[in-house]
Amino acid sequence: MANSRIIPVSDGNAIEAAARIIQNGGLVAFPTETVYGLGADAENPIAVARIFEVKARPRIDPLIVHVADRDMAEYYGVFPQKAHLLMEKFWPGPLTLVVSKKETIPAIVTAGLDTVAIRIPAHPAALDLIRASGCAIAAPSANLFGCVSPTEAQHVAEQLSDKVDWILDGGPCTIGLESTILSLSGDTPSIMRPGGTSIEKLSALLGSIDITSGVYGLPKVPGQMERHYATHTPMDIIEEDREEIKPTERVGLLCFSPPGFPQKYEVVETLSNSGNMREAAANLFRSLHRLDRMKLDRIIARPVPEEGLGIAIMDRLRRCSTRGLSGRWKNSE
Ligand code: TXA
Ligand code: MG
Repeated sequence: MANSRIIPVSDGNAIEAAARIIQNGGLVAFPTETVYGLGADAENPIAVARIFEVKARPRIDPLIVHVADRDMAEYYGVFPQKAHLLMEKFWPGPLTLVVSKKETIPAIVTAGLDTVAIRIPAHPAALDLIRASGCAIAAPSANLFGCVSPTEAQHVAEQLSDKVDWILDGGPCTIGLESTILSLSGDTPSIMRPGGTSIEKLSALLGSIDITSGVYGLPKVPGQMERHYATHTPMDIIEEDREEIKPTERVGLLCFSPPGFPQKYEVVETLSNSGNMREAAANLFRSLHRLDRMKLDRIIARPVPEEGLGIAIMDRLRRCSTRGLSGRWKNSE
Protein backbone atom coordinates (compact mmCIF):
# COMPACT_ATOMS: atom_id res chain seq x y z
CA MET A 1 0.00 0.00 0.00
CA ALA A 2 1.57 3.29 -1.08
CA ASN A 3 1.27 6.16 1.34
CA SER A 4 2.47 9.62 0.50
CA ARG A 5 2.98 10.41 4.15
CA ILE A 6 5.70 7.78 4.56
CA ILE A 7 9.02 9.58 4.13
CA PRO A 8 12.36 7.71 4.31
CA VAL A 9 14.60 9.24 6.98
CA SER A 10 17.40 9.37 4.40
CA ASP A 11 15.41 11.75 2.15
CA GLY A 12 17.17 15.12 1.87
CA ASN A 13 15.90 17.24 4.72
CA ALA A 14 13.22 14.83 5.98
CA ILE A 15 14.33 15.25 9.59
CA GLU A 16 14.34 19.05 9.39
CA ALA A 17 10.87 19.07 7.85
CA ALA A 18 9.56 16.62 10.45
CA ALA A 19 11.04 18.79 13.21
CA ARG A 20 9.15 21.77 11.80
CA ILE A 21 5.90 19.75 12.09
CA ILE A 22 6.70 18.96 15.74
CA GLN A 23 7.50 22.61 16.47
CA ASN A 24 4.17 23.65 14.94
CA GLY A 25 2.21 21.30 17.19
CA GLY A 26 1.85 18.45 14.68
CA LEU A 27 2.30 14.70 15.03
CA VAL A 28 5.16 12.72 13.52
CA ALA A 29 5.49 8.95 13.71
CA PHE A 30 9.18 8.11 13.94
CA PRO A 31 11.40 5.05 14.27
CA THR A 32 13.14 4.04 17.48
CA GLU A 33 15.11 0.88 18.19
CA THR A 34 12.11 -0.57 20.08
CA VAL A 35 8.91 0.31 18.18
CA TYR A 36 7.70 3.30 16.16
CA GLY A 37 6.57 6.22 18.30
CA LEU A 38 3.81 8.76 17.70
CA GLY A 39 5.56 11.99 18.63
CA ALA A 40 4.58 15.50 19.64
CA ASP A 41 6.34 18.39 21.39
CA ALA A 42 6.31 17.24 25.04
CA GLU A 43 5.96 20.83 26.23
CA ASN A 44 2.89 21.57 24.09
CA PRO A 45 -0.27 20.31 25.85
CA ILE A 46 -2.48 20.81 22.78
CA ALA A 47 -0.19 18.78 20.57
CA VAL A 48 0.00 16.08 23.24
CA ALA A 49 -3.80 16.04 23.51
CA ARG A 50 -3.90 15.14 19.80
CA ILE A 51 -1.81 12.03 20.49
CA PHE A 52 -4.49 10.79 22.88
CA GLU A 53 -7.23 11.53 20.33
CA VAL A 54 -5.49 9.90 17.39
CA LYS A 55 -4.69 6.75 19.35
CA ALA A 56 -8.06 6.69 21.11
CA ARG A 57 -5.99 6.40 24.25
CA PRO A 58 -7.52 7.18 27.67
CA ARG A 59 -6.12 10.37 29.18
CA ILE A 60 -5.22 8.48 32.36
CA ASP A 61 -2.43 6.57 30.57
CA PRO A 62 0.79 8.63 30.77
CA LEU A 63 3.29 8.99 27.91
CA ILE A 64 7.04 8.44 27.67
CA VAL A 65 9.19 11.53 27.14
CA HIS A 66 12.04 11.01 24.64
CA VAL A 67 15.19 13.09 25.05
CA ALA A 68 18.51 13.25 23.20
CA ASP A 69 20.95 13.43 26.11
CA ARG A 70 21.25 13.37 29.89
CA ASP A 71 21.18 17.14 30.31
CA MET A 72 17.86 17.21 28.54
CA ALA A 73 16.61 14.36 30.75
CA GLU A 74 17.49 16.36 33.85
CA TYR A 75 15.63 19.36 32.51
CA TYR A 76 12.43 17.35 32.76
CA GLY A 77 12.99 14.94 35.67
CA VAL A 78 14.79 14.63 39.01
CA PHE A 79 17.17 11.69 38.84
CA PRO A 80 18.29 10.01 42.08
CA GLN A 81 21.86 8.74 42.52
CA LYS A 82 21.22 5.21 41.28
CA ALA A 83 19.71 6.57 38.07
CA HIS A 84 23.13 7.81 37.02
CA LEU A 85 24.57 4.29 36.94
CA LEU A 86 21.64 3.18 34.82
CA MET A 87 21.89 6.14 32.45
CA GLU A 88 25.60 5.49 32.04
CA LYS A 89 25.14 1.83 31.19
CA PHE A 90 21.81 1.61 29.37
CA TRP A 91 21.25 4.94 27.61
CA PRO A 92 20.71 5.40 24.75
CA GLY A 93 18.66 2.21 24.75
CA PRO A 94 15.43 0.38 25.55
CA LEU A 95 15.17 1.47 29.20
CA THR A 96 12.64 4.03 30.44
CA LEU A 97 13.16 5.53 33.90
CA VAL A 98 10.25 6.80 35.97
CA VAL A 99 11.37 9.65 38.25
CA SER A 100 9.88 12.75 39.91
CA LYS A 101 8.76 15.24 37.29
CA LYS A 102 9.71 18.88 37.01
CA GLU A 103 7.36 21.76 36.13
CA THR A 104 8.74 21.71 32.58
CA ILE A 105 6.46 18.76 31.76
CA PRO A 106 2.74 19.53 31.37
CA ALA A 107 0.33 17.45 33.43
CA ILE A 108 -1.32 15.93 30.37
CA VAL A 109 1.92 14.07 29.51
CA THR A 110 2.05 12.31 32.87
CA ALA A 111 -1.72 11.98 33.25
CA GLY A 112 -1.51 14.11 36.36
CA LEU A 113 1.08 11.91 38.09
CA ASP A 114 3.98 13.59 39.86
CA THR A 115 6.38 11.22 38.11
CA VAL A 116 7.56 11.24 34.49
CA ALA A 117 8.82 8.38 32.29
CA ILE A 118 11.94 9.36 30.31
CA ARG A 119 14.29 7.61 27.91
CA ILE A 120 16.99 8.27 25.31
CA PRO A 121 16.19 6.13 22.26
CA ALA A 122 19.09 4.36 20.49
CA HIS A 123 18.15 5.35 16.97
CA PRO A 124 19.96 8.03 14.97
CA ALA A 125 16.79 9.32 13.29
CA ALA A 126 14.97 9.63 16.63
CA LEU A 127 17.90 11.50 18.17
CA ASP A 128 18.24 13.78 15.13
CA LEU A 129 14.52 14.52 15.24
CA ILE A 130 14.62 15.44 18.94
CA ARG A 131 17.68 17.67 18.43
CA ALA A 132 16.24 19.35 15.33
CA SER A 133 12.93 19.95 17.14
CA GLY A 134 14.74 21.50 20.10
CA CYS A 135 12.35 19.92 22.60
CA ALA A 136 11.64 16.57 24.16
CA ILE A 137 9.21 14.41 22.19
CA ALA A 138 6.35 12.75 24.05
CA ALA A 139 5.52 9.53 22.25
CA PRO A 140 3.53 6.40 22.88
CA SER A 141 3.83 3.52 20.44
CA ALA A 142 2.30 4.57 17.10
CA ASN A 143 -0.64 2.17 17.10
CA LEU A 144 -4.29 2.38 18.04
CA PHE A 145 -4.80 1.89 21.76
CA GLY A 146 -4.63 -1.77 22.75
CA CYS A 147 -3.51 -3.01 19.32
CA VAL A 148 -0.23 -4.58 18.23
CA SER A 149 2.69 -2.11 18.27
CA PRO A 150 4.33 -1.07 14.98
CA THR A 151 7.86 -2.17 14.15
CA GLU A 152 7.75 -0.94 10.53
CA ALA A 153 6.51 2.32 8.99
CA GLN A 154 3.89 0.34 7.07
CA HIS A 155 2.37 -0.93 10.34
CA VAL A 156 1.88 2.70 11.40
CA ALA A 157 0.25 3.54 8.08
CA GLU A 158 -2.16 0.61 8.39
CA GLN A 159 -3.50 1.85 11.73
CA LEU A 160 -3.07 5.61 11.63
CA SER A 161 -2.39 6.64 8.03
CA ASP A 162 -4.68 9.66 7.68
CA LYS A 163 -4.43 10.71 11.32
CA VAL A 164 -0.73 11.61 11.53
CA ASP A 165 1.00 14.43 9.70
CA TRP A 166 4.04 12.37 8.74
CA ILE A 167 5.53 8.92 9.11
CA LEU A 168 9.33 8.88 9.09
CA ASP A 169 10.48 5.51 7.73
CA GLY A 170 13.69 4.24 9.29
CA GLY A 171 13.19 0.59 8.33
CA PRO A 172 12.34 -2.25 10.74
CA CYS A 173 13.04 -1.70 14.45
CA THR A 174 16.05 -3.68 15.63
CA ILE A 175 14.83 -4.52 19.16
CA GLY A 176 11.16 -4.90 18.23
CA LEU A 177 9.79 -4.81 21.81
CA GLU A 178 8.97 -1.71 23.84
CA SER A 179 11.43 -0.42 26.41
CA THR A 180 11.63 -1.86 29.90
CA ILE A 181 10.03 0.61 32.33
CA LEU A 182 11.80 0.91 35.68
CA SER A 183 10.40 3.14 38.39
CA LEU A 184 12.91 4.84 40.65
CA SER A 185 10.29 6.82 42.52
CA GLY A 186 10.04 4.46 45.51
CA ASP A 187 12.65 3.00 47.87
CA THR A 188 13.25 -0.09 45.74
CA PRO A 189 13.54 0.14 41.94
CA SER A 190 10.49 -1.48 40.48
CA ILE A 191 9.75 -2.95 37.04
CA MET A 192 6.59 -1.41 35.59
CA ARG A 193 6.85 -3.26 32.28
CA PRO A 194 9.33 -5.90 31.10
CA GLY A 195 10.86 -4.94 27.74
CA GLY A 196 13.96 -4.62 25.60
CA THR A 197 16.44 -4.36 28.51
CA SER A 198 16.49 -7.63 30.41
CA ILE A 199 15.58 -7.67 34.09
CA GLU A 200 18.66 -9.82 34.73
CA LYS A 201 20.93 -7.03 33.44
CA LEU A 202 19.19 -4.45 35.61
CA SER A 203 19.41 -6.67 38.69
CA ALA A 204 23.10 -7.24 38.07
CA LEU A 205 23.66 -3.50 38.31
CA LEU A 206 21.15 -2.54 41.00
CA GLY A 207 20.94 -5.59 43.22
CA SER A 208 17.39 -5.67 44.51
CA ILE A 209 14.59 -4.92 42.09
CA ASP A 210 10.90 -5.29 42.75
CA ILE A 211 9.35 -7.25 39.92
CA THR A 212 5.99 -7.82 41.54
CA SER A 213 4.51 -4.60 42.83
CA GLY A 214 5.10 -2.31 39.83
CA VAL A 215 2.63 -2.66 37.04
CA TYR A 216 0.33 -5.22 38.38
CA GLY A 217 -0.02 -4.00 41.91
CA LEU A 218 0.01 -0.22 42.11
CA PRO A 219 -2.20 2.26 40.22
CA LYS A 220 -3.43 0.50 37.19
CA VAL A 221 -3.16 2.40 33.92
CA PRO A 222 -4.54 1.14 30.65
CA GLY A 223 -1.13 0.52 29.06
CA GLN A 224 -0.73 -2.07 31.74
CA MET A 225 -4.10 -3.67 31.24
CA GLU A 226 -4.41 -7.38 30.93
CA ARG A 227 -5.57 -7.40 27.34
CA HIS A 228 -3.29 -5.15 25.31
CA TYR A 229 -0.92 -5.47 22.34
CA ALA A 230 -3.80 -7.50 20.95
CA THR A 231 -4.44 -8.97 17.52
CA HIS A 232 -8.00 -8.87 16.13
CA THR A 233 -7.71 -12.62 15.66
CA PRO A 234 -8.18 -14.60 18.90
CA MET A 235 -4.93 -16.05 20.21
CA ASP A 236 -4.20 -18.93 22.56
CA ILE A 237 -0.84 -19.81 24.06
CA ILE A 238 -0.57 -23.60 23.89
CA GLU A 239 2.33 -26.01 24.45
CA GLU A 240 3.21 -28.30 21.57
CA ASP A 241 0.96 -31.39 21.34
CA ARG A 242 -1.66 -29.92 23.68
CA GLU A 243 -3.83 -28.37 20.99
CA GLU A 244 -7.01 -29.47 19.27
CA ILE A 245 -7.73 -28.08 15.83
CA LYS A 246 -11.12 -28.58 14.19
CA PRO A 247 -10.94 -29.68 10.53
CA THR A 248 -12.77 -26.53 9.43
CA GLU A 249 -10.57 -24.15 11.41
CA ARG A 250 -7.96 -21.94 9.75
CA VAL A 251 -5.19 -21.71 12.32
CA GLY A 252 -1.92 -19.78 12.19
CA LEU A 253 1.02 -20.87 14.32
CA LEU A 254 3.46 -18.48 15.98
CA CYS A 255 6.48 -20.36 17.25
CA PHE A 256 9.92 -19.63 18.60
CA SER A 257 11.76 -22.24 16.52
CA PRO A 258 10.66 -24.34 13.48
CA PRO A 259 7.69 -26.66 14.30
CA GLY A 260 7.51 -30.42 13.85
CA PHE A 261 4.28 -30.57 11.79
CA PRO A 262 3.86 -27.30 9.89
CA GLN A 263 1.28 -28.80 7.52
CA LYS A 264 -1.40 -28.69 10.27
CA TYR A 265 -1.52 -24.90 10.01
CA GLU A 266 -2.70 -22.44 7.38
CA VAL A 267 0.49 -20.47 8.00
CA VAL A 268 3.48 -20.70 10.29
CA GLU A 269 5.46 -17.72 11.61
CA THR A 270 8.79 -18.82 13.09
CA LEU A 271 10.31 -16.12 15.27
CA SER A 272 13.88 -17.37 14.91
CA ASN A 273 15.14 -20.24 12.78
CA SER A 274 18.22 -20.51 14.97
CA GLY A 275 16.34 -20.20 18.29
CA ASN A 276 17.89 -16.79 19.01
CA MET A 277 15.86 -14.75 21.53
CA ARG A 278 16.99 -11.34 20.21
CA GLU A 279 15.94 -12.26 16.72
CA ALA A 280 12.65 -13.63 18.07
CA ALA A 281 11.94 -10.35 19.89
CA ALA A 282 12.70 -8.31 16.78
CA ASN A 283 10.28 -10.45 14.72
CA LEU A 284 7.43 -10.76 17.24
CA PHE A 285 5.18 -7.81 16.32
CA ARG A 286 5.86 -8.13 12.59
CA SER A 287 4.76 -11.78 12.76
CA LEU A 288 1.63 -10.81 14.72
CA HIS A 289 0.78 -8.14 12.15
CA ARG A 290 1.22 -10.68 9.33
CA LEU A 291 -0.93 -13.31 11.01
CA ASP A 292 -3.61 -10.77 11.86
CA ARG A 293 -3.91 -9.67 8.22
CA MET A 294 -4.79 -13.23 7.14
CA LYS A 295 -8.22 -13.25 8.79
CA LEU A 296 -7.57 -16.60 10.43
CA ASP A 297 -10.01 -18.21 12.86
CA ARG A 298 -7.33 -18.47 15.50
CA ILE A 299 -3.67 -17.95 16.26
CA ILE A 300 -1.84 -20.51 18.37
CA ALA A 301 1.34 -19.20 19.99
CA ARG A 302 3.95 -21.45 21.56
CA PRO A 303 5.40 -20.27 24.86
CA VAL A 304 9.05 -19.16 24.84
CA PRO A 305 11.52 -19.75 27.69
CA GLU A 306 10.99 -17.05 30.35
CA GLU A 307 14.44 -15.63 30.73
CA GLY A 308 16.11 -12.51 29.31
CA LEU A 309 13.98 -11.03 26.53
CA GLY A 310 11.75 -14.11 26.76
CA ILE A 311 10.11 -12.51 29.82
CA ALA A 312 9.01 -9.51 27.74
CA ILE A 313 7.94 -11.70 24.82
CA MET A 314 5.74 -13.83 27.09
CA ASP A 315 4.31 -10.69 28.72
CA ARG A 316 3.19 -9.44 25.28
CA LEU A 317 1.85 -12.84 24.22
CA ARG A 318 -0.18 -13.19 27.42
CA ARG A 319 -1.67 -9.73 27.01
CA CYS A 320 -2.49 -10.51 23.41
CA SER A 321 -4.05 -13.88 24.17
CA THR A 322 -7.73 -14.33 24.71
CA ARG A 323 -7.18 -15.86 28.10
CA GLY A 324 -5.22 -12.87 29.36
CA LEU A 325 -2.44 -13.10 31.89
CA SER A 326 -1.28 -16.14 33.75
CA GLY A 327 2.01 -17.20 35.27
CA ARG A 328 4.87 -15.06 36.44
CA TRP A 329 3.49 -11.66 35.41
CA LYS A 330 -0.03 -12.40 36.59
CA ASN A 331 -1.96 -9.43 37.88
CA SER A 332 -1.83 -9.53 41.65
CA GLU A 333 -5.31 -8.03 42.02
O1 TXA B 1 9.83 1.52 23.66
C1 TXA B 1 8.97 2.27 24.09
O2 TXA B 1 8.83 2.51 25.32
C2 TXA B 1 8.04 2.96 23.08
C3 TXA B 1 8.88 3.87 22.19
C4 TXA B 1 8.06 4.67 21.24
O3 TXA B 1 9.70 4.66 23.00
N1 TXA B 1 6.99 3.68 23.73
C5 TXA B 1 5.96 3.06 24.35
O4 TXA B 1 5.00 3.94 24.83
O5 TXA B 1 5.87 1.85 24.47
P1 TXA B 1 3.54 3.47 25.33
O6 TXA B 1 2.80 4.72 25.57
O7 TXA B 1 2.97 2.52 24.38
O8 TXA B 1 3.82 2.83 26.70
C6 TXA B 1 4.27 3.65 27.74
C7 TXA B 1 3.95 3.06 29.06
C8 TXA B 1 2.48 3.12 29.38
O9 TXA B 1 2.01 1.82 29.70
C9 TXA B 1 2.40 4.03 30.58
O10 TXA B 1 1.45 3.57 31.48
C10 TXA B 1 3.79 3.96 31.15
O11 TXA B 1 4.62 3.86 30.03
N2 TXA B 1 4.14 5.21 31.85
C11 TXA B 1 4.37 6.42 31.34
N3 TXA B 1 4.60 7.32 32.30
C12 TXA B 1 4.53 6.67 33.47
C13 TXA B 1 4.68 7.06 34.84
N4 TXA B 1 4.93 8.29 35.20
N5 TXA B 1 4.53 6.08 35.75
C14 TXA B 1 4.26 4.81 35.40
N6 TXA B 1 4.11 4.39 34.13
C15 TXA B 1 4.25 5.30 33.19
MG1 MG C 1 1.96 1.05 23.50
